[in-house]
Amino acid sequence: MNPIKTRVLEINPYDLDQDILRIAAETILSGALVAFPTETVYGLGANALDEAAVARIFIAKKRPANDPVILHIADLAQLADIAQDIPDHAYELMDIFWPGPLTLILKKHPNIPLNVTSGGDTIAVRMPSHPLALALIKQAAVPIGAPSANLFSHPSPTTAQHVLKDLDGRIDLILDGGSTDIGLESTILDLSTPIPRILRPGGISMETIAAFLPDLSFEPKYLQEGERIEAPGNFTKHYSPHAPITVYEGVQHQQVIAKILTDAQAATQIGQHVGILLMDCDKEAFDGVDISIALMGRSLEDMAHKLFAAFRQFDAQNVDQIFVAAPPKTGIGLAIWDRLVRASEGNIQHITT
Ligand code: TXA
Ligand code: MG
Repeated sequence: MNPIKTRVLEINPYDLDQDILRIAAETILSGALVAFPTETVYGLGANALDEAAVARIFIAKKRPANDPVILHIADLAQLADIAQDIPDHAYELMDIFWPGPLTLILKKHPNIPLNVTSGGDTIAVRMPSHPLALALIKQAAVPIGAPSANLFSHPSPTTAQHVLKDLDGRIDLILDGGSTDIGLESTILDLSTPIPRILRPGGISMETIAAFLPDLSFEPKYLQEGERIEAPGNFTKHYSPHAPITVYEGVQHQQVIAKILTDAQAATQIGQHVGILLMDCDKEAFDGVDISIALMGRSLEDMAHKLFAAFRQFDAQNVDQIFVAAPPKTGIGLAIWDRLVRASEGNIQHITT
């Protein structure tokens, strides 16, 4: 594709500049692409009712056509144009969790261009809570189709600088509204089948949703690219930094850390540059070892917020290997664990006593 001039416009999400909003909405309505922050990660937006505009998303991201796009709305009234046969429990969940990081899979409306759903008969839809995202959708007055604003299989962007690194010259406009709050993508919940299923753990925890949907199931499937896609988006290789990742999992946290230390020292001795993702409290164990560290803070929420930026940091530092201790699979830990499994292509070391 011929390079496009990518504009970056800074905008304060809590004091929205109406001129910038107008420019961004006009850009969307002209069929061009606008990256914008949501509470999860930055999205790459196009008018979801414009097939040619949606096609540009796939080209800009180098995304395969069999990976459908999430629609973003700002008002429940917009649902009538994009979904049909919406079950009652879907409305209950919208009432509880929207606006917010929950994406629902519903039966699609015939109006929706085929490339939005990759030819399927369901649609993914969410109402983001980020004030800039909501204002942009309202101003454009169309549903905005937006995958994460990264090149396909790269880590999702949590800042405008991440978007620019991946998509400079490939998209028209980036709205820089600062770093995103949650840092991992939305939870995807399939309500198009009799038993509701989580297809991707994310910003809202499984436990929180299960409180309202007791028969909720979660059966993650980690497929290789090219395999048949049952639930789209379940490629194993995803969110990946360049260096291979090893995820260390074990019941005894201190043993896990000790094993990472041993492996890091061994790799360093043969001249490798090792990057380790570490919670603040584990840092001391690595004092004096010649490695790069990405500090993940003190909580699972901190780790989610910092994870993708850490992958990009290690890319910039050209590390040879990345090590990380698996988080507990509770709360947002399940989503972190899912991203680590995909980014490491399932390279998990089980540490037993
Ligand atoms: O937090 C988020 O969800 C971010 C922000 C920008 O909203 N968006 C995001 O989009 O993560 P994306 O395209 O990177 O991931 C969307 C996932 C893909 O894996 C896609 O396969 C899946 O949603 N998806 C979309 N439509 C679907 C459908 N009809 N059925 C099942 N999965 C679907
Ligand atoms: Mg994505």
